[in-house]
Amino acid sequence: MSEELSRDTLYERAEHAARTIHARAGEEARVALVLGSGLGAFADDLEDATAIPYAEIPGFARSTVEGHAGRLVVGKIENVAVAAMQGRFHFYEGYTLEEVTFPVRALALLGAKTLILTNAAGGLNNALKQGSLMLISDHLNLLGENPLRGANDARFGVRFPDMSEVYDRALQEIAICEAHALNLELRRGVYAALAGPSYETPAEIRMLRALGADAVGMSTVPEAIVARHVGVKVLGISCITNMAAGVLDQPIDHQEVIETGERVRATFAELLRRVIPKLQ
Ligand code: HPA
Repeated sequence: MSEELSRDTLYERAEHAARTIHARAGEEARVALVLGSGLGAFADDLEDATAIPYAEIPGFARSTVEGHAGRLVVGKIENVAVAAMQGRFHFYEGYTLEEVTFPVRALALLGAKTLILTNAAGGLNNALKQGSLMLISDHLNLLGENPLRGANDARFGVRFPDMSEVYDRALQEIAICEAHALNLELRRGVYAALAGPSYETPAEIRMLRALGADAVGMSTVPEAIVARHVGVKVLGISCITNMAAGVLDQPIDHQEVIETGERVRATFAELLRRVIPKLQ
């Protein structure tokens, strides 16, 4: 990073990223989308698409985890401008939460009014099955850190943002309605975010169940908090790639997580393709 850049505030860096994306893609984005493990291929469905590797966007870190392509694809679905992140930055990779959530700030400044967060998650609730989708109705931030910690820039939002409705109820209704039209079961549930990268122990899963979690993962929550801070509406959908540790008598395998994501991809894509045009 140049000396000049490093003197910029977070807001100015996010603006710089947004301007760079705008210059490359030639347009703003109404809807921002983060595609989780195994779900990245949805971005290939966008029309008039411009793909920008994260390495070419100032301020963006680089994705290191397998199954994440690490690029932003800006394009259209039925005339709605969408900016889709193929891969995200995770806390467990060693990034700070500021780095993890930087793209959300940049996409908000690019004009995004809605953020759709997708992820792979382990299922705790027995009503969930491997391969099912869960609509996130609320979350538990168990990362031990908050992305808004530190000086607050009022250009983004207030110091103490309300989190009583992180996942927009009207957007949840749209998702439920569209899932219904596809004959797809989409249950609401609480998503718990842990730092990872180790999967949970069965004792931790029992603890999470007692705390009210339905699914567990290692992402999404920091991005959702930053989006709400800046006034972007959030829709969250988890792909249950496995049952959480100790639920079934079998170990959790990252390859299985990726493969389940890929198996569900077409259904997931169909749901997103129906939901996005309804978000205006
Ligand atoms: N735990 C945490 N994160 C995950 C899991 C899990 O079981 N599956 C996919 N991401």
